[in-house]
Amino acid sequence: MKILVVGGAGYIGSICTELLLDEGHEVAVFDNFVEGHRAAVDRRARLIEGDLADRETIELALRSTGVEAVMHFAASALVGESMQNPSKYFRNNIANGLNLLDAMIATGVNRLVFSSTCAIFGPPERVPIDETLPQRPINPYGESKLAFERILRWYDEIHGLRFVALRYFNAAGASERFGEQHRVETHLIPNVLKVALGQKPHVEIYGTDYDTPDGTCIRDYIHILDLSQAHILALGAAKSEFYNIGTGGGSSVREVIDVCRAVTGRDIPVVEKPRRAGDPPRLIAASAKIKSELGWEPKFQRLDAIIESAWKWHQRFPNGYSD
Ligand SMILES: NC(=O)c1ccc[n+]([C@@H]2O[C@H](COP(=O)([O-])OP(=O)(O)OC[C@H]3O[C@@H](n4cnc5c(N)ncnc54)[C@H](O)[C@@H]3O)[C@@H](O)[C@H]2O)c1
Repeated sequence: MKILVVGGAGYIGSICTELLLDEGHEVAVFDNFVEGHRAAVDRRARLIEGDLADRETIELALRSTGVEAVMHFAASALVGESMQNPSKYFRNNIANGLNLLDAMIATGVNRLVFSSTCAIFGPPERVPIDETLPQRPINPYGESKLAFERILRWYDEIHGLRFVALRYFNAAGASERFGEQHRVETHLIPNVLKVALGQKPHVEIYGTDYDTPDGTCIRDYIHILDLSQAHILALGAAKSEFYNIGTGGGSSVREVIDVCRAVTGRDIPVVEKPRRAGDPPRLIAASAKIKSELGWEPKFQRLDAIIESAWKWHQRFPNGYSD
């Protein structure tokens, strides 16, 4: 297929692009490089520099590439920042996303895979979190993604847009060539590995008195290659749908740090801090629906395999993409 990867210079988009190309698809990447990196764009892909805020550029990109489907990764994605600057989140994640949808309708491209998030649920009533749980986001980031999901439903009903929204939990790990490097890194694994590399003095643990076996928060880490594979399966979905996606296993902050110590063989000092507002103790995905409907099956169930891949990438590129 011919696919436009919007946000393809970012962490998840860059690796999905690589996998699509490896599987023989033709890929164009659209990115404004506000967060993404030029060196993260696979050379085999055509690169179109542009911003979703500009409706004409995105429409031109769709027309000139003649794509049949779009993967939409572009978003502002920092929960904390969204609490300081909600307008940025509603503008980029909803208004700019609408430019993409309208350009797709105008050009007759009617297949979309959308990056959603477990943040649409807010603190869950129970775990694992399946698709039937109430959606009550507690920050503008989650609200913006939920709003976009609802817009997608209407675009399907009114315009026949066929979409799959994948609600990721915690993406982690790397491929051989591409890895995780956000300009403001809030994710645990890259931050712990920076300590292992000697680039940060210690890692901070926020809250050690949660009702979990070791008192720290539990999250569901999914290998980026398994997540990318789900996107490729989603391209062939027969109908529009929303799927939660994770491995279904949870790892606590202390477990992640211990596995990082074992994988890297390095000392990783920690500093314990009080809880942060809005951090639920457990976020674990129920992925039965995507497994049964799309035939998705994760290959990397073990946290050490995920962390090993990330560590290899960080050792190979200690300064990341250096831009
Ligand atoms: N990383 C995770 O664990 C995680 C979890 C849940 C959901 N998500 C979602 O997955 C998507 C990708 O996440 P990521 O970690 O790869 O983020 P990222 O910031 O690395 O990638 C996003 C890319 O989109 C680009 N972009 C943003 N706004 C744009 C615009 N207006 N026009 C053109 N390009 C634009 C950025 O430059 C960047 O390259 C996001 O939508 C995020 O909300 C990520």
